[in-house]
Amino acid sequence: MLIQIITLTICYLLGSISFSVLLAKMLKGIDIRQYGSGNAGATNTLRVLGKGPAIVVLLLDVLKGIVAVWIGKWLGGDEAWIPALCGIAAIMGHNWPIYFNFRGGKGVATTIGVMATLSFLPALLAGIIAIISIVLTRYVSLGSLILVLLTPVFLLILGGYPQPVFWTSIIIAIFVFWRHRSNIVKIVQHRENKIGSGGSGKG
Ligand code: G3P
Repeated sequence: MLIQIITLTICYLLGSISFSVLLAKMLKGIDIRQYGSGNAGATNTLRVLGKGPAIVVLLLDVLKGIVAVWIGKWLGGDEAWIPALCGIAAIMGHNWPIYFNFRGGKGVATTIGVMATLSFLPALLAGIIAIISIVLTRYVSLGSLILVLLTPVFLLILGGYPQPVFWTSIIIAIFVFWRHRSNIVKIVQHRENKIGSGGSGKG
C-alpha cells in the first residue's frame, strides 16, 4: 500500500510541473495566468507566446500523462487500476499544481497522454473527431469537451478494456468539464475565443 501511495504522489508531483508557467516565466518574465484566458495550458501559450512555445508546452504536457501511466505500469504490473490512478494523479497535479499555488491548467494535454497510453484506439478516434470540430468551429475548448465525451463512448463501443480504464475516462471527463465551466458559458453565449483570432479575454 505504501508503495502505491508513494507512486501516486510522484505522479501528482510530476503533473504539477506546469510547463506553460515555466516557459512564460523563462521567455518573457510573465505569469501566463495573468494573460489571455488565464489558463496554464498550451492553448493559452499559443495566444500569449506564439506557436513554437505552444507546441513545446503541448508535447511536454502530453508527455507528463504518458510518463505517469508508464510509472504506474512499471510499478503496478498487471494491476490495471494503478496506471489509471497514476494518470488521474498527474492530471490533478496539472490542474492543481503544488508548486504554483494550486492554480494550473484544464488538464486536456495531460489527458491526451494518459488516455492514449491506457487505450490508444478509443483516444485516437475521439481525438480525430475533436480535431475536426476544432478545425470547423475554431473552438479548442469545444474540441477538448468532445474528446473527453467520446473517449468513454469509444471504449464501450470497441470493448475489451479493463474497467479501471473506463472509469478513469469518466473521472477525467468530469474534471475537464469542471475546468471548462467558463468556456462552456462563453460557447453558449458565442463569446468564446476562437483559435487564431488573437482573443485575449481572461476567464
Ligand atoms: O485545453 C484548454 C482548452 O480547451 C481551453 O483553453 O485557454 O481557451 O481556456 P483556454
